[in-house]
Amino acid sequence: MRRNFVAGNWKMHGNRAMVRELLDGILAEVDQIEAPPAMAVIPPAILIPQVAERVAGSAIEVGAQNVCDQEGEGAFTGEISGAMLQEAGCRYALVGHSERRALYGESDALVGQRALAALGAGLTPIVCVGETLEERDADQTEGVVQRQLQAVLAATGADRARDLVIAYEPVWAIGTGRTATPEQAQAVHAFLRTQLGSAAPDVTILYGGSVKADNADALFGMDDIDGGLIGGASLKADQFLAICRAAAA
Ligand code: PGA
Repeated sequence: MRRNFVAGNWKMHGNRAMVRELLDGILAEVDQIEAPPAMAVIPPAILIPQVAERVAGSAIEVGAQNVCDQEGEGAFTGEISGAMLQEAGCRYALVGHSERRALYGESDALVGQRALAALGAGLTPIVCVGETLEERDADQTEGVVQRQLQAVLAATGADRARDLVIAYEPVWAIGTGRTATPEQAQAVHAFLRTQLGSAAPDVTILYGGSVKADNADALFGMDDIDGGLIGGASLKADQFLAICRAAAA
């Protein structure tokens, strides 16, 4: 279902004390957002139970930063299954974040399998796609995001496109302070929508990459940008809340 949505990817940040302080700050004001977007925080896996317990009953939902590509249980050291994440209180799982692709060698095919496993466990995959600066400069942006998205649709079946959230995150804009302009982002979002067939009007497509309180309005004002996947700014309650307000309907 297409809707306004803001998700905070905490990456490998936080501890139990930080969770208390950050969520206290967010929960103190989140109810005052009028016509709020859907909102989620995505902590490191070890902090998921603490976060899930704290946000229970609030408008904030929980996601995981990754999910095992295998369903069921088994000999997959270091992995966490979708069912485990679901039981711990997650509704979402990121798949294919550029840091996973670049630093941990995750292939398009593996990302597709992770998305499929997430769906199998009743989680909504947030599928990250995006080009590097070299690829953008070589005019390959559309080809890259098309390849990444099609690999996921090939694994899940195109008929599951409606059950995905897509996050366009140009690698050159992540953690760099260099945001895509609203027009640059909109162009890729519109292209991604053309890749979704009959599901196109129903799919939530987020922008990620140095979204801050002061640029969120302009980005979220574009026709095909439904909200944001927020890294650094999601670690500060006032910034996260301001970005959620910018995504309010
Ligand atoms: P950033 O990260 O907002 O810190 O650029 C976004 C992301 O990687 O999801």
